[in-house]
Amino acid sequence: MNLKGNWNYPTKVRFGAGRIAELADACNELGIKKPMLVTDPGLAKLPMVQDALARNEAAGLASALYSDVKPNPLARNVEEGLKRYRSGNHDGVIAFGGGSALDAGKTIAFMAGQTRPLWDFEDIGDNWKAADDAGIDPIIAVPTTAGTGSEVGRAAVIMNEETHTKKILFHPKMMPSIVIADPELTLGLPPHITAATGMDALAHCLEAYCVSSYHPMADGIAVEGARLIKEWLPVAVRDGKDLSARAHMMVAASMGAAAFQKGLGAIHALSHPVGSLYDTHHGLTNGVVMPYVLAFNRTAIDEKMTRLAAWLSLPDPSFAAVMQWVLALREEIAIPHTLRELGVESDRLDALAQMAAIDPTASGNPVTVGVKELKTLFVASIEGRLD
Ligand SMILES: NC(=O)c1ccc[n+]([C@@H]2O[C@H](COP(=O)([O-])OP(=O)(O)OC[C@H]3O[C@@H](n4cnc5c(N)ncnc54)[C@H](O)[C@@H]3O)[C@@H](O)[C@H]2O)c1
Ligand SMILES: [Fe+2]
Repeated sequence: MNLKGNWNYPTKVRFGAGRIAELADACNELGIKKPMLVTDPGLAKLPMVQDALARNEAAGLASALYSDVKPNPLARNVEEGLKRYRSGNHDGVIAFGGGSALDAGKTIAFMAGQTRPLWDFEDIGDNWKAADDAGIDPIIAVPTTAGTGSEVGRAAVIMNEETHTKKILFHPKMMPSIVIADPELTLGLPPHITAATGMDALAHCLEAYCVSSYHPMADGIAVEGARLIKEWLPVAVRDGKDLSARAHMMVAASMGAAAFQKGLGAIHALSHPVGSLYDTHHGLTNGVVMPYVLAFNRTAIDEKMTRLAAWLSLPDPSFAAVMQWVLALREEIAIPHTLRELGVESDRLDALAQMAAIDPTASGNPVTVGVKELKTLFVASIEGRLD
């Protein structure tokens, strides 16, 4: 099968191996004449970023590079990038990398012409309506991991260093105008990052599907995303050079994010504070807490899991079969079983549970969760108690 396509949902996606060669064309399509490419320091050294800059240069599009973006990006990284963006008179962002670089790049483009401070746009109520739409510059997203799906998302996750919390910033126009999804860019992704980012994509699919509101479109995307992950994540981890596996995982990641417009749940509510306080990788953390949250939600998701099990061709259509598959997948791709193995101990339980309770994703969980329930979930995840 030729794994290539041009899609317009949920935004314009140029999908297929080698399509990074179309970057200058994408800039032209959006009228970007002076782009700033935002990435992270690791990627900035790799040939893929250098090649992209050189190709743009050859096409007459001098492109600046900003790479001071740490994993779990800080507000400081965005502010500094914004200064450079404004002083360089740039007119569009190429957000190039994993979720960290994509979110930083998207936020810089969003803030380009805003007069209010960043945190005024935290994803609470109608905050986004205070933004000046005309001040948002165009974004081209080039994902290099297959996990967050940030390339097709309207949000960015940025760390507020003062409060030590990861905050979600939201605006409909933070959705990139063009995505270049080239699975060749992920061929060199090491197995442990492939595994961890893949678990983020799975968490998006499972959580979006489990949110109880009525949204069959999102549900359909979520279950097919989960099926692609089941088929291809173990292959991508085992053999990173398998281009088909990389392609299917890249689509599955975008599908997870398209589906989670419906909402997320306690996997993400637990994972955000752990990432904030312990600086753990987001997808890895999701992968660890996933089975504990599924078990906790069982009463509310039993029927849905039965249908999912059938779609995934599991041996028996039941909640238990999905649980067994998740546990086996985690083991196969070396995701730890407990939060303790990520360095999380019970001494900060109260802070973790309180932060989780106010995380915007908590309200999407199919079983209502407050501080008490989230604390129980943290204890189970730290100690590895799955009952
Ligand atoms: N905006 C959203 O909707 C959304 C959703 C989920 C997660 N997130 C956020 O995304 C971030 C995590 O993103 P991530 O999981 O993609 O990881 P990441 O962007 O932090 O990257 C992880 C590491 O992988 C390296 N890397 C990336 N691509 C590579 C490649 N092709 N080859 C070799 N190395 C490569 C990076 O240099 C980095 O060191 C977190 O901050 C998380 O909160 C955002
Ligand atoms: Fe996520």
